[in-house]
Amino acid sequence: MSPASHHRADADWHRSAAIYQVYIRSFRDGDGDGIGDIAGIRERLPWLAELGIDALWINPWYPSPQHDAGYDVSDYRDIDPRFGTIDEARELIDDAHRLGLRVILDIVPNHTSSEHPWFQAALTAGPGSPERARYLFRAGRGTDGELPPNDWLSVFGGAAWTRVADGEWYLHLFDSTQPDLDWTNDDVRAEFESILRFWFDAGVDGFRIDVAHGLAKDPEMPDLGLGPEQLLAPTAHGNHPHWDRDEVHEVWQAWRRIADAYDPPRVYVAEAWTEDDERLSHYLRPDELHTAFNFHFLRAPWNAAALRDVVDASRAAVARVGAASTWVLSNHDVVRHVSRYARERQDRSLHSLGDLRGTAADLELGTLRSRAAALLMLALPGSCYLYQGEELGLPEVEDLPDAVKQDPAFRRTKGVDPGRDGCRVPIPWSGERPPFGFGPEGSEPWLPQPAGWRTLTAEAQAADDSSMLALYRAALRIRREHPALGDGDMRWFDELDPAVTLAFTREPGFACVVNFGDSPIELPTGDVLLASAELVDGLLPKDAAAWLRTG
Ligand code: GLC
Repeated sequence: MSPASHHRADADWHRSAAIYQVYIRSFRDGDGDGIGDIAGIRERLPWLAELGIDALWINPWYPSPQHDAGYDVSDYRDIDPRFGTIDEARELIDDAHRLGLRVILDIVPNHTSSEHPWFQAALTAGPGSPERARYLFRAGRGTDGELPPNDWLSVFGGAAWTRVADGEWYLHLFDSTQPDLDWTNDDVRAEFESILRFWFDAGVDGFRIDVAHGLAKDPEMPDLGLGPEQLLAPTAHGNHPHWDRDEVHEVWQAWRRIADAYDPPRVYVAEAWTEDDERLSHYLRPDELHTAFNFHFLRAPWNAAALRDVVDASRAAVARVGAASTWVLSNHDVVRHVSRYARERQDRSLHSLGDLRGTAADLELGTLRSRAAALLMLALPGSCYLYQGEELGLPEVEDLPDAVKQDPAFRRTKGVDPGRDGCRVPIPWSGERPPFGFGPEGSEPWLPQPAGWRTLTAEAQAADDSSMLALYRAALRIRREHPALGDGDMRWFDELDPAVTLAFTREPGFACVVNFGDSPIELPTGDVLLASAELVDGLLPKDAAAWLRTG
């Protein structure tokens, strides 16, 4: 790694890293087709290095019919022509490394695209064939097999089964264009191990693992007996027929051996939605995955007690297995946090756009809280993920016209689920009107950008010391330089009222204070290194955070 990289021991870089999520189709469009691409990312790498992050995670860029924005992969060893070429991908990895940035890719092992050659072969080969055995084909129920094999539901709405011409059904926990693989099949395991090596050999530093809690299915395929409400809430503690089953861990142990055989070792981050932190920690045992997104943090309302519980539970769980925490506030699947925190009511989780329906947004408030949340997250022990655009304080676009929406969840539920497009709107880089430098002048971004984003462009914010971008840059710089930040320990500082503040110290000589109450509070003794809002007569205003040098 270049001298620009982190001061901490290299093999442990993932325990402290600030990782920036590049949602490629919305980051920067180099060729003007309205969709972001590798050329666009390469052009902005110096900008990302200057922002002060340690690594990028790039969402799926493989050839794909794009029925689920690339999470429907038809070839795991190439690049979708919309995004570029395999040579450009290799160059991007090298460019990033030269700038001291690591690169994490996204791997989708739970399902392939229905256009993947394996699935096409399975359709042709017919029932009982080895080709079908790589997926989960079953006979239907009913007198003539006309009913699905069981009552499982797709996460995106509707049944999780689709019938093919010869009468068999195949399982898809997501869209019907995303058939689930059978992870008890040896071909499947061998193929993915080879895919990992393909990219690790190209210099990739790690993988974000899509739906890491979904690969193992109960071979009996029993009915769930649940409605759609319970679908996303696995409460069976290891006994759910398709989420978070214990058998899945064998796969991660095998993947860990592959990552460890590289020098430097490659790393994994799991997307695993589990019932609680204890279950999540199973993925983080020393011979499994290195990190996992802490979605409980992302789902917590803006409330001191709720956030403190999440921090404590997460730290206790990872400590048991010797792992580090991984904090995250937003990603491409949830409502942007500026808009979540903009809601008056903060007593429940508001992570999908449907949760926000009918509630008024106070974006100024949401922005204030997001500034404070950034300082909180960046001060907590462990690594963290930033979702592109949060450094600009972008809100969710809540009023996208139905006609432009592309999320299969919107389509499959006929709009009952408003979908995830609103957090995927292309980044405004510069200028006064769309495409705001996302693509060349005159190009049309794949989702429309609000005209009001004029004031939120990276260019406008770079010129303004009080902007969200300036705050992120300053915080990330301090985070890299300060020996107390990143991985390590913390201690709650309870001299301040824990009902309305979150305050903690980290050694050597650092404190973070967040004020959730209604009135300004006094700060502990120390020099203010950074604050998310201007202090008023030396007091920290409500919905603000400060970092202090103590002792
Ligand atoms: C993950 C991805 C999401 C995708 C789904 C199916 O949850 O983050 O975007 O739709 O998996 O692959």
